[in-house]
Amino acid sequence: MKQDLNKGPGYFLPRKAATLLSVMIFMIAVAASAFKKNPPAKEIRLNLAERDSVESVKAFETVYKTLMSPRCMNCHPAGDVPLQGDDSHLHAMGPKRGVDGKGVFAMKCANCHQDTNTPGLHTPPGNHDWHLPPAAMRMVFQGKSPHELAKQLVDKKQNGNKDMKKLIEHADDGLVLAGWNPGEGRKLPPVSHAEFKKAWITWIQKGAYAPKK
Ligand code: HEC
Ligand code: HEC
Repeated sequence: MKQDLNKGPGYFLPRKAATLLSVMIFMIAVAASAFKKNPPAKEIRLNLAERDSVESVKAFETVYKTLMSPRCMNCHPAGDVPLQGDDSHLHAMGPKRGVDGKGVFAMKCANCHQDTNTPGLHTPPGNHDWHLPPAAMRMVFQGKSPHELAKQLVDKKQNGNKDMKKLIEHADDGLVLAGWNPGEGRKLPPVSHAEFKKAWITWIQKGAYAPKK
């Protein structure tokens, strides 16, 4: 009886079909991997071979001192009131962050901060999108150690859901660039925008390592 079962056509066919099927699956897999789109050359790839904790941490020194400079930190305060001036004092008249970061009631940022810098000393710097990060994603720089800030910057739950590519692109964000066009009487960030961007990309591409402290 057993022999009959093994030799019967009812067993032979499925077996043959199964072999055929696995050959087909194999061929589809080969074809699929051959046709799989190569990422475009311009796309930023995080190549494991490029990872280098020493170079990454070194580049972060420049990133950190830029982010903690008043031109950046004044919009990334620990509280809900923006900061002002080279000494990062609380913003006069205390405009508040609000849910969307654009202020509350009559104290909307755009009421005073125009599309461009207002000429003169102690006048509002301008940008068409001048606002703080929103209440649900406060992106605080003030008071953060290099270790804490590095961890926070790459955490999608704290950085506005930015992957590595989006983070790199953020180096040319309008509000970041505003730091290098601060209006009269305000100090520039400690390095040029080109130097900042280079350090920012190096830090990320070498693995976005956080300093020990
Ligand atoms: C006018 C206020 C303002 C200024 C000035 C400003 N930022 Fe921001 N920044 C924001 C806002 C708002 C966001 C959130 C927007 C977003 O996620 O796209 C943000 C987001 C960021 C992020 C992404 C958040 C994260 O944690 O990864 C980085 C990085 C950043 N800013 C860096 C800078 C740097 C560097 C400077 C100075 C050269 C600067 N910012 C100056 C308002 C500002
Ligand atoms: C009533 C007008 C007014 C409102 C409303 C206002 N600002 Fe300002 N802001 C100013 C003035 C004026 C200055 C320049 C002060 C100075 O240089 O002494 C300034 C400066 C700043 C600076 C300092 C820039 C630097 O590089 O040091 C930041 C940051 C800032 N404002 C953010 C905001 C944000 C964010 C809002 C909305 C939540 C806002 N402001 C609402 C008038 C205003």
